[in-house]
Amino acid sequence: MSATRDQWRTAIACGDKHAVTLRGYNLQELVGKVSFAEAWLLLATGELPPPGHARLLDAMMVSVLDHGIVPSSIVTRYLASAGTPIQAAVAGGVMAFGDTYGGACEQLGEQLAGHVPEIRAGRGTPAEAAGEIVKHFMALGRKVPGYGHALHPEGDPRVPRLYQLADANGVTGEHSRLAFAVQDELYRAKGRKLPMNQDGALGALGLDMGLDWRLLRALAFVPRSAGLAVHALEEMTRESGWRHVPDEEITYDGPPPRSLPKD
Ligand SMILES: CC(C)(COP(=O)(O)OP(=O)(O)OC[C@H]1O[C@@H](n2cnc3c(N)ncnc32)[C@H](O)[C@@H]1OP(=O)(O)O)[C@@H](O)C(=O)NCCC(=O)NCCS
Repeated sequence: MSATRDQWRTAIACGDKHAVTLRGYNLQELVGKVSFAEAWLLLATGELPPPGHARLLDAMMVSVLDHGIVPSSIVTRYLASAGTPIQAAVAGGVMAFGDTYGGACEQLGEQLAGHVPEIRAGRGTPAEAAGEIVKHFMALGRKVPGYGHALHPEGDPRVPRLYQLADANGVTGEHSRLAFAVQDELYRAKGRKLPMNQDGALGALGLDMGLDWRLLRALAFVPRSAGLAVHALEEMTRESGWRHVPDEEITYDGPPPRSLPKD
């Protein structure tokens, strides 16, 4: 039953004069006993995760924490240089996460989450599902999200490390197996290697941990926010303030100077 419009309800957490409760557990009991990764998976899935899931999530968050001067940190640093509050500078950087940069895990995740129940029910194989996923994006004239990398054409070095840990911690599951089948299918369709990138691995492993595909981008923007906060501080304290693009890097190719028509 849905709540009425003027009522708020949540199954996540609640607090009163004496205690805060997360998914039924007393927060004071959790503090000091569970890691941030375990507590977040508790919020996100409703249950405390198996220890291997939390260990892998922690490793995933470290792998996303910071990548130096990239679109999100450039936005954060621009905003910080303009004197915005630190949280506004971080929020701006997070908003740079989109379908092409930093957010591809969601689009791939939606497809994987749609196909895995069908495979489980015996309606098709991973190879067939992978073929449908590649066709789906190609029919839209789009690249398959989660594969290819401008900097690492031979393969994103973070992915084998994450899967080494995912295997060791018992996380790798059906979504990851389908994601690797998509990689094989993409190779066949494009005739070139387009290995799974970090976004693809975050999406597939997040689903293997039981996350809803609509939550997958949080795997990128939650840890990166922590990195962006430090970028904002460095910009405020080490740089001269008010960033702008140098004139020699700007090309104006609109109409030449002209006058308004005479009345
Ligand atoms: C990340 C990305 C922008 C890197 O691009 P790039 O290495 O500069 O590659 P290009 O855009 O120059 O593409 C080179 C060729 O590979 C193809 N290609 C690259 N990534 C592809 C993908 N994910 N799916 C299908 N084809 C892809 C291009 O269509 C192009 O093929 P063509 O020569 O037949 O036209 C690109 O791979 C992409 O958009 N991937 C999907 C989005 C994604 O996962 N983003 C997260 C990145 S961490």
